[in-house]
Amino acid sequence: MGKLFKKKPLDLLMYEAAQVGEHTLKRSLGWVNLVALGIGGIIGAGLFVRTAAAIADRAGPSVVLAFVVAGIGCAFAGLCYAEFASMIPVAGSAYTYSYATMGEFVAWIIGWDLILEYAVAAATVSDAWSEYANRVLGWFNMAIPYQWTHSPFEHDPGGTYGIMNVPALFILLLLTMLLIRGTKESAFVNGLIVILKVSIVLLFIGIGWQFINPAHHTPFIPSATTHVTAQGITHHYGGILGILGAAGVVFFAYIGFDAVSTAAQEARNPRRDMPIGILGSLVFCTVLYVLFSYVLSGVATVEDFRAAGREASVAFAISKYMHGYEWLSRAVTVAILAGFSSVILVMLLGQSRVFFSMSRDGLVPSIFSEVHPRYRTPWKSNMLFFVFTGALAALVPADVTGEMTSIGTLFAFILVCAGVWIMRVKHPELERGFRVPAAPLVATLGIITCSAMIYGLGWTNWMRLIVWLLIGFIFYFGYGKSHSHIDAPRPTDMPEGIKMTRDGLL
Ligand code: ALA
Repeated sequence: MGKLFKKKPLDLLMYEAAQVGEHTLKRSLGWVNLVALGIGGIIGAGLFVRTAAAIADRAGPSVVLAFVVAGIGCAFAGLCYAEFASMIPVAGSAYTYSYATMGEFVAWIIGWDLILEYAVAAATVSDAWSEYANRVLGWFNMAIPYQWTHSPFEHDPGGTYGIMNVPALFILLLLTMLLIRGTKESAFVNGLIVILKVSIVLLFIGIGWQFINPAHHTPFIPSATTHVTAQGITHHYGGILGILGAAGVVFFAYIGFDAVSTAAQEARNPRRDMPIGILGSLVFCTVLYVLFSYVLSGVATVEDFRAAGREASVAFAISKYMHGYEWLSRAVTVAILAGFSSVILVMLLGQSRVFFSMSRDGLVPSIFSEVHPRYRTPWKSNMLFFVFTGALAALVPADVTGEMTSIGTLFAFILVCAGVWIMRVKHPELERGFRVPAAPLVATLGIITCSAMIYGLGWTNWMRLIVWLLIGFIFYFGYGKSHSHIDAPRPTDMPEGIKMTRDGLL
């Protein structure tokens, strides 16, 4: 039993982080790359699809306030991530932090849980990518037939069944190959995508601002009532509850800033740059989201969003109200496609880095931490996750909901907030590149906000999380526990009492 809660010694973590050579990841990312990585992972389906859903079903124009609320909730967790990533600059993020603070079993739970965030999100977003890619191909009369863009469990109204979602497989394979080729190369492509999608979002905000109809913003907070969605689900609409419900919906839009922390071992100057990457991308996207949702809810009416169907709602709002800007509606579709690509890229990167660390610790097989001799990336891990996410995306319908991703993420956030506090009490002496201001307060508020959002996700999602964790226990007790390196002798060349220098390395 004692072993379950055994913690990984901090000096060992630091020692591992400081290793260089052909068997380790390469430190190639600067702060600009890290901010871009965050933005790449953040702006995607949450902004382009869920904003309209939140307006239609929950909050009307007060979706703007929902973005503020969800942004504040993420800021608590973001601050805690920033402190951890600047203190323990090792790949693996929440998993590694938990191993050092709460012991192996909690670390396993969180590592397993992060599959929900990263791998499941990558599969889900690749399905959405497929749909938009087919829309763009349709502009050139090259749309792929239904059978090859859907899973065998889906059929169209005419009774045609899907066979396999080929475009989803294609994008996953393409991005996996990019990740294997190199982290720096991946960061470069991510940077280009980020420039494209941010430019188009800014264009929409700038041009759309002139088309805001003040009547659509009045009242800004609709009076509290209920609304039955097209799927027959009743939600609180308007008032405070509407805003909180909408915050839960748009929380998904913020997921991704934490993925920056999984790349800590590839940052050149982690102590300075990790906090910049995590908090910089979060602040940037919060401002962008607030402006975007303000414009979108001012251009079209709530009824428009209810009638348009969520997927096409931004393009629909442009076509209906912003005459002369049909090109912008197409540009938004391209931005969405680009946005989905970088979200998938960052999620796949995060997933392989979490398993890299778990594998180094013996909790999952060593194949997940084998580094390519030339590219210095965990290429076998990348390939295995391509097979896993590809199977999910190609053969399973896209009803692996965003809520599964959200609950997995929120759970990780709670443990990170708790972990920062524990570290402050147990290891106040450790050097931190960034310190959370009023740490106990921020950590407590983070835990409360994330717990409230988990509560809001409802019991179906709690059950899904529990079942997923139970499957994880089988793997842990069947493999991880007996293969763990926690009791292995310390490396012989490891000095006692390791201290970090200014850049976070030995
Ligand atoms: N934040 C990411 C998105 O909106 C997951 O797609």
